[in-house]
Amino acid sequence: MSYERKYAEALSRVIGDELTLDQIEALIEKPKHEAHGDLAFPCFQLAKAYRKAPVMIATDIANDLNDELFTKVEAAGPYVNVFLSRDVVSQEIINTVLDEQADYATHATRNETIVTDFSSPNIAKPFSMGHLRSTVIGNAINQIARKNGYDVVGINHLGDWGTQFGKLMVAYKKWGDEEAVRAHPIAELLKLYVHFHEEAKTQPELEDEGRAWFKKLEDGNEEATELWTWFREESLKEFQKVYDLLGVEFDSFNGEAFYNDKMDRVVAMLEEKNLLVESEGAMVVSLEDENLPPCLIKKKDGATLYATRDLAAAVYRHETYNFVQANYVVGGEQALHFKQLFSVLRKLGYDFVDGMHHVPFGLILQEGKKMSTRKGRIVLLEEVLKEAIEKAQANIAQKNPELANADDVARMVGVGAVIFHDLKNERINNIEFDLDSMLKFEGETGPYVQYTNARANSLLRKGNYDGSTFTGANDDHTWGVVTMLNAFPHVITRAHERREPSIISRYVLDLAQAFNKYYGHVRVLEEDAGKQSRLALVKAVTIVLTEGLRLIGVQAPEEM
Ligand code: ARG
Repeated sequence: MSYERKYAEALSRVIGDELTLDQIEALIEKPKHEAHGDLAFPCFQLAKAYRKAPVMIATDIANDLNDELFTKVEAAGPYVNVFLSRDVVSQEIINTVLDEQADYATHATRNETIVTDFSSPNIAKPFSMGHLRSTVIGNAINQIARKNGYDVVGINHLGDWGTQFGKLMVAYKKWGDEEAVRAHPIAELLKLYVHFHEEAKTQPELEDEGRAWFKKLEDGNEEATELWTWFREESLKEFQKVYDLLGVEFDSFNGEAFYNDKMDRVVAMLEEKNLLVESEGAMVVSLEDENLPPCLIKKKDGATLYATRDLAAAVYRHETYNFVQANYVVGGEQALHFKQLFSVLRKLGYDFVDGMHHVPFGLILQEGKKMSTRKGRIVLLEEVLKEAIEKAQANIAQKNPELANADDVARMVGVGAVIFHDLKNERINNIEFDLDSMLKFEGETGPYVQYTNARANSLLRKGNYDGSTFTGANDDHTWGVVTMLNAFPHVITRAHERREPSIISRYVLDLAQAFNKYYGHVRVLEEDAGKQSRLALVKAVTIVLTEGLRLIGVQAPEEM
């Protein structure tokens, strides 16, 4: 339990029923000056109930407060300031971490489900850096939600339906080569797609052929279905390589095509509620009352749209998972789509929409511009990851040539660098795509945190840590580490509430820094009576660093 909570409990015993424990804890502040103590409680909120001036209330509370946790309690104007006993608090916190191990700060299960729609790349197209962002942010959001006690479901809403498949079929039948597609599915399919568009410039009839093939697919034609299934499977195999490298798993790959037979029902519901109106031959839901452009449900030719599928998906997911929260980790460019989606669901009378969130993120820019497939401004993710791993390999070969499982470690470090680079700043910020900075291992990077953790582990080995508990210490460097360990539970809650993995990334950086300071000033391995106790602190740091990294999808090798 955090020391803020302990202080709140002590206050609660004195204050009585006026404020709940949570309310008290939320009011607790950190005094501006260290000389005023470690924690402060402002008494303004009690003034009305007590019919007394806050200054007097503070004096009364200060007089009544006593706990072995505090070395001094002081009323300072309307505040009750306490000085924590560093000895007692550091023992409490470190030994709790040692007891609970990776479960430290894990919430009890709530038996409530959160579904997160993330990654969701488009079949037959390269896995873009934008999809990488969605993948790592979505994965982290799910891990963090699970840590907060929720059951989580990860959904990959594959872009596996649409007119582009008709074009692809035409292109494949005209210019395709089975072997080449099997060998490099995405690259080949992309080539065919690009070639199709070039040819279509001079032969516009190709577009009609493409439409005709897509129609065949929609009508269940055998050849078309076979081709589609094959394109989908080959693409998915290639995406799976990236997911394996990243260590990301999904519970469902139900993409757009999965909703083919589930849209009629939603369209019927819209009709029943008189929400569908005709507009230039198309069917739309007007959202004028909310100052939004209409949501397109059916095109002139009867074709359904992205939004139609998302409507069906939302209803299906709620019926299947009974979620309390549904997140869509999709770039900020689609903000309008999700606003419209949620509005239409609300018009349909679905309250579950209150738990739906578009979780946007910024662009990946190249030289200040958006990356685009068409302009060839595209970098293949798998290559970025491979390059990162190679760089990590070279690093290891130079610094630690004896390392046992060097390849595994290189993978963890290379991939960790790429993931951490993405999650280091608030997700809404744009990121400049710059291989050199993505692959940097010093400064505020994943490898820096991993390296700190590996060094801590090596201290445990060198010092033969015997599992002892922590027996307390008063120095500033220990306290620096203890306050960071103490903050972990709050960090877990905040990262979840804001759906913001960078809160965890920042936290592990800060903890690593606090530990490196400690390590720079305290002789951990000195052969004296305190050695095993100091190693207990080191152990607690490795537990929390490893767990923090795990939550953002980064592995922590014990040696590197
Ligand atoms: N495939 C889409 C894209 O690449 C993202 C899908 C996001 N999920 C959703 N349910 N709309 O832009």
